[in-house]
Amino acid sequence: MELIKVKDYEELSVKAAKIISGEIAEKKTLTIALPSGSTPVGMFHELVNAVNSKKTTFKNVKAFLLDEYCDIKYNKEQSIKYFVNYHLFSQINIEEENIFTIKTDEDDLNKVCNDYNKLLEENPIDIQVLGIGANGHIGFNEPNGSFDLETHISKLAFKTRLDNQRFFNSINEVPSYAVTMGIKSILKAKHIILLISGAAKADALKRLLTLEVSEEFPASCLINHPNVTVIVDESACSGLK
Ligand code: F6R
Repeated sequence: MELIKVKDYEELSVKAAKIISGEIAEKKTLTIALPSGSTPVGMFHELVNAVNSKKTTFKNVKAFLLDEYCDIKYNKEQSIKYFVNYHLFSQINIEEENIFTIKTDEDDLNKVCNDYNKLLEENPIDIQVLGIGANGHIGFNEPNGSFDLETHISKLAFKTRLDNQRFFNSINEVPSYAVTMGIKSILKAKHIILLISGAAKADALKRLLTLEVSEEFPASCLINHPNVTVIVDESACSGLK
Protein backbone atom coordinates (compact mmCIF):
# COMPACT_ATOMS: atom_id res chain seq x y z
CA MET A 1 0.00 0.00 0.00
CA GLU A 2 1.41 3.34 -1.00
CA LEU A 3 0.41 6.09 1.45
CA ILE A 4 0.34 9.64 0.08
CA LYS A 5 -0.07 12.31 2.75
CA VAL A 6 -1.42 15.68 1.63
CA LYS A 7 -2.34 18.82 3.52
CA ASP A 8 -6.07 19.02 3.12
CA TYR A 9 -9.18 17.90 1.23
CA GLU A 10 -8.42 20.17 -1.72
CA GLU A 11 -4.96 18.69 -2.22
CA LEU A 12 -6.38 15.19 -1.84
CA SER A 13 -8.93 15.90 -4.57
CA VAL A 14 -6.31 17.39 -6.91
CA LYS A 15 -3.94 14.47 -6.34
CA ALA A 16 -6.62 11.82 -6.98
CA ALA A 17 -7.81 13.56 -10.16
CA LYS A 18 -4.21 13.83 -11.41
CA ILE A 19 -3.59 10.13 -10.92
CA ILE A 20 -6.76 9.33 -12.86
CA SER A 21 -5.99 11.82 -15.66
CA GLY A 22 -2.46 10.41 -15.85
CA GLU A 23 -3.74 6.87 -16.34
CA ILE A 24 -6.30 8.04 -18.92
CA ALA A 25 -3.45 9.71 -20.83
CA GLU A 26 -1.32 6.58 -20.66
CA LYS A 27 -3.93 4.09 -21.87
CA LYS A 28 -6.09 4.39 -24.97
CA THR A 29 -9.18 3.15 -23.15
CA LEU A 30 -9.76 2.94 -19.43
CA THR A 31 -12.41 1.46 -17.16
CA ILE A 32 -12.96 3.07 -13.79
CA ALA A 33 -15.25 2.21 -10.88
CA LEU A 34 -16.48 5.07 -8.72
CA PRO A 35 -18.02 5.53 -5.28
CA SER A 36 -20.42 8.26 -4.22
CA GLY A 37 -20.44 10.07 -0.88
CA SER A 38 -18.84 13.34 0.20
CA THR A 39 -15.23 12.28 -0.22
CA PRO A 40 -15.00 12.00 -4.03
CA VAL A 41 -16.94 15.22 -4.75
CA GLY A 42 -13.77 17.38 -4.83
CA MET A 43 -12.07 14.86 -7.12
CA PHE A 44 -15.12 14.86 -9.42
CA HIS A 45 -14.91 18.66 -9.52
CA GLU A 46 -11.21 18.52 -10.44
CA LEU A 47 -11.95 16.01 -13.20
CA VAL A 48 -14.68 18.26 -14.59
CA ASN A 49 -12.20 21.16 -14.64
CA ALA A 50 -9.59 18.98 -16.33
CA VAL A 51 -12.07 17.96 -19.05
CA ASN A 52 -13.20 21.57 -19.55
CA SER A 53 -9.62 22.75 -19.92
CA LYS A 54 -8.85 19.82 -22.27
CA LYS A 55 -6.28 18.36 -19.88
CA THR A 56 -8.11 15.05 -19.93
CA THR A 57 -10.95 13.35 -21.77
CA PHE A 58 -13.52 10.70 -20.85
CA LYS A 59 -14.27 9.95 -24.50
CA ASN A 60 -12.82 6.45 -24.22
CA VAL A 61 -13.51 5.88 -20.54
CA LYS A 62 -16.06 3.41 -19.19
CA ALA A 63 -17.38 4.06 -15.68
CA PHE A 64 -19.00 1.61 -13.29
CA LEU A 65 -20.72 2.65 -10.08
CA LEU A 66 -19.52 0.83 -6.99
CA ASP A 67 -22.94 0.50 -5.39
CA GLU A 68 -26.57 1.60 -5.34
CA TYR A 69 -29.22 1.84 -2.66
CA CYS A 70 -32.22 -0.44 -2.77
CA ASP A 71 -35.73 0.94 -2.37
CA ILE A 72 -35.00 4.12 -4.23
CA LYS A 73 -36.74 4.36 -7.51
CA TYR A 74 -34.11 4.78 -10.16
CA ASN A 75 -32.96 8.32 -10.83
CA LYS A 76 -34.52 9.67 -7.70
CA GLU A 77 -32.43 12.37 -6.08
CA GLN A 78 -30.93 10.20 -3.36
CA SER A 79 -29.76 7.47 -5.66
CA ILE A 80 -26.07 6.98 -6.18
CA LYS A 81 -26.59 7.23 -9.92
CA TYR A 82 -28.22 10.63 -9.49
CA PHE A 83 -25.40 11.83 -7.21
CA VAL A 84 -22.50 10.81 -9.46
CA ASN A 85 -24.36 11.94 -12.54
CA TYR A 86 -24.95 15.35 -10.96
CA HIS A 87 -21.36 15.85 -9.79
CA LEU A 88 -19.52 14.20 -12.67
CA PHE A 89 -21.14 12.41 -15.61
CA SER A 90 -23.44 15.26 -16.64
CA GLN A 91 -20.46 17.60 -16.81
CA ILE A 92 -17.90 15.53 -18.71
CA ASN A 93 -17.63 14.05 -22.18
CA ILE A 94 -18.42 10.47 -21.21
CA GLU A 95 -20.65 8.50 -23.61
CA GLU A 96 -23.99 7.51 -22.09
CA GLU A 97 -23.46 3.87 -23.13
CA ASN A 98 -20.18 3.83 -21.19
CA ILE A 99 -21.90 4.50 -17.86
CA PHE A 100 -22.77 1.33 -15.94
CA THR A 101 -25.09 1.61 -12.96
CA ILE A 102 -26.65 -0.98 -10.67
CA LYS A 103 -30.32 -1.10 -11.55
CA THR A 104 -31.90 -1.62 -8.15
CA ASP A 105 -35.21 -0.34 -9.49
CA GLU A 106 -35.66 -3.71 -11.19
CA ASP A 107 -37.62 -6.46 -9.44
CA ASP A 108 -35.14 -9.34 -9.61
CA LEU A 109 -32.11 -8.12 -7.66
CA ASN A 110 -30.29 -11.44 -7.94
CA LYS A 111 -30.43 -11.09 -11.71
CA VAL A 112 -29.27 -7.45 -11.37
CA CYS A 113 -26.24 -8.67 -9.38
CA ASN A 114 -25.45 -11.46 -11.88
CA ASP A 115 -25.79 -9.11 -14.84
CA TYR A 116 -23.44 -6.59 -13.20
CA ASN A 117 -20.89 -9.31 -12.46
CA LYS A 118 -21.00 -10.35 -16.11
CA LEU A 119 -20.42 -6.75 -17.21
CA LEU A 120 -17.51 -6.45 -14.80
CA GLU A 121 -16.02 -9.64 -16.16
CA GLU A 122 -16.24 -8.28 -19.70
CA ASN A 123 -14.81 -4.92 -18.62
CA PRO A 124 -11.99 -5.42 -16.10
CA ILE A 125 -11.56 -2.39 -13.86
CA ASP A 126 -8.33 -0.45 -14.35
CA ILE A 127 -8.91 2.01 -11.53
CA GLN A 128 -11.17 1.43 -8.55
CA VAL A 129 -11.75 4.56 -6.48
CA LEU A 130 -12.95 4.05 -2.91
CA GLY A 131 -14.00 6.09 0.08
CA ILE A 132 -14.17 4.49 3.51
CA GLY A 133 -16.89 4.37 6.13
CA ALA A 134 -16.06 5.23 9.73
CA ASN A 135 -16.71 1.53 10.43
CA GLY A 136 -14.23 0.46 7.75
CA HIS A 137 -16.76 -0.36 5.04
CA ILE A 138 -15.75 0.03 1.40
CA GLY A 139 -18.55 0.19 -1.10
CA PHE A 140 -21.38 -1.11 1.05
CA ASN A 141 -19.38 -4.09 2.27
CA GLU A 142 -20.11 -3.84 5.96
CA PRO A 143 -18.11 -5.31 8.87
CA ASN A 144 -18.23 -9.11 9.16
CA GLY A 145 -19.47 -9.67 5.61
CA SER A 146 -17.68 -12.27 3.49
CA PHE A 147 -14.63 -11.22 1.47
CA ASP A 148 -15.58 -13.87 -1.05
CA LEU A 149 -18.52 -12.06 -2.65
CA GLU A 150 -18.91 -10.29 -5.97
CA THR A 151 -21.83 -7.91 -6.55
CA HIS A 152 -24.47 -8.74 -3.93
CA ILE A 153 -27.24 -7.37 -1.76
CA SER A 154 -25.92 -5.95 1.50
CA LYS A 155 -27.74 -4.97 4.68
CA LEU A 156 -26.48 -1.56 5.73
CA ALA A 157 -25.03 -1.23 9.22
CA PHE A 158 -26.96 1.16 11.45
CA LYS A 159 -23.80 3.31 11.73
CA THR A 160 -23.73 3.63 7.92
CA ARG A 161 -27.39 4.63 7.81
CA LEU A 162 -26.75 7.19 10.55
CA ASP A 163 -23.69 8.59 8.74
CA ASN A 164 -25.60 8.84 5.45
CA GLN A 165 -28.68 10.35 7.02
CA ARG A 166 -27.35 13.76 5.91
CA PHE A 167 -28.25 12.93 2.31
CA PHE A 168 -31.89 12.25 3.30
CA ASN A 169 -34.67 14.02 5.19
CA SER A 170 -34.56 11.57 8.10
CA ILE A 171 -33.05 8.27 9.22
CA ASN A 172 -36.32 6.54 8.26
CA GLU A 173 -35.73 7.46 4.64
CA VAL A 174 -32.23 5.95 4.55
CA PRO A 175 -32.52 2.57 2.83
CA SER A 176 -31.70 -0.52 4.88
CA TYR A 177 -30.22 -2.39 1.92
CA ALA A 178 -27.94 -1.68 -1.01
CA VAL A 179 -26.42 -3.62 -3.87
CA THR A 180 -22.66 -3.32 -3.84
CA MET A 181 -19.68 -4.65 -5.72
CA GLY A 182 -18.21 -7.16 -3.30
CA ILE A 183 -14.70 -7.32 -1.91
CA LYS A 184 -13.90 -10.02 -4.47
CA SER A 185 -14.94 -7.66 -7.30
CA ILE A 186 -13.07 -4.71 -5.79
CA LEU A 187 -9.82 -6.65 -5.40
CA LYS A 188 -9.82 -7.53 -9.13
CA ALA A 189 -9.05 -3.90 -10.03
CA LYS A 190 -5.57 -3.26 -11.38
CA HIS A 191 -5.15 -0.11 -9.29
CA ILE A 192 -7.15 0.87 -6.22
CA ILE A 193 -7.21 4.46 -4.99
CA LEU A 194 -8.58 4.89 -1.47
CA LEU A 195 -9.42 8.43 -0.36
CA ILE A 196 -9.49 9.21 3.37
CA SER A 197 -10.26 12.73 4.49
CA GLY A 198 -11.24 14.39 7.75
CA ALA A 199 -11.03 13.76 11.47
CA ALA A 200 -14.15 11.57 11.39
CA LYS A 201 -12.08 9.01 9.45
CA ALA A 202 -8.97 9.22 11.68
CA ASP A 203 -9.85 6.08 13.59
CA ALA A 204 -10.59 4.17 10.37
CA LEU A 205 -7.18 5.15 8.96
CA LYS A 206 -5.44 4.13 12.17
CA ARG A 207 -7.18 0.76 12.10
CA LEU A 208 -6.30 0.27 8.42
CA LEU A 209 -2.62 0.87 9.17
CA THR A 210 -2.46 -1.27 12.30
CA LEU A 211 -4.85 -4.19 11.77
CA GLU A 212 -4.29 -7.50 10.05
CA VAL A 213 -6.63 -8.58 7.25
CA SER A 214 -9.98 -9.28 8.90
CA GLU A 215 -13.61 -9.33 7.81
CA GLU A 216 -14.37 -7.27 10.92
CA PHE A 217 -12.80 -4.31 9.14
CA PRO A 218 -13.58 -4.61 5.40
CA ALA A 219 -10.98 -2.09 4.18
CA SER A 220 -8.27 -4.36 5.60
CA CYS A 221 -8.75 -6.56 2.51
CA LEU A 222 -6.71 -3.96 0.64
CA ILE A 223 -3.55 -4.77 2.58
CA ASN A 224 -2.64 -7.68 0.31
CA HIS A 225 -3.57 -6.08 -3.02
CA PRO A 226 -0.41 -5.32 -5.05
CA ASN A 227 -1.37 -1.82 -6.23
CA VAL A 228 -3.21 0.33 -3.71
CA THR A 229 -2.72 4.08 -3.34
CA VAL A 230 -4.16 5.56 -0.16
CA ILE A 231 -4.42 9.35 -0.21
CA VAL A 232 -4.90 10.88 3.24
CA ASP A 233 -5.12 14.44 4.49
CA GLU A 234 -3.70 15.85 7.72
CA SER A 235 -6.93 15.68 9.67
CA ALA A 236 -7.41 12.01 8.77
CA CYS A 237 -3.89 11.45 10.14
CA SER A 238 -4.71 13.08 13.48
CA GLY A 239 -4.94 9.69 15.23
CA LEU A 240 -1.51 8.56 14.06
CA LYS A 241 1.61 9.11 16.14
C1 F6R B 1 -20.64 5.05 -1.37
C2 F6R B 1 -19.59 4.19 -0.86
C3 F6R B 1 -19.20 4.28 0.57
C4 F6R B 1 -18.56 5.63 0.88
C5 F6R B 1 -18.26 5.74 2.38
C6 F6R B 1 -17.67 7.10 2.73
O1 F6R B 1 -20.84 4.82 -2.75
O2 F6R B 1 -19.06 3.39 -1.57
O3 F6R B 1 -18.32 3.24 0.91
O4 F6R B 1 -17.37 5.75 0.14
O5 F6R B 1 -19.44 5.55 3.08
O6 F6R B 1 -18.62 8.08 2.49
P1 F6R B 1 -18.26 9.61 2.61
O7 F6R B 1 -17.29 9.91 1.53
O8 F6R B 1 -19.56 10.33 2.40
O9 F6R B 1 -17.70 9.81 3.96
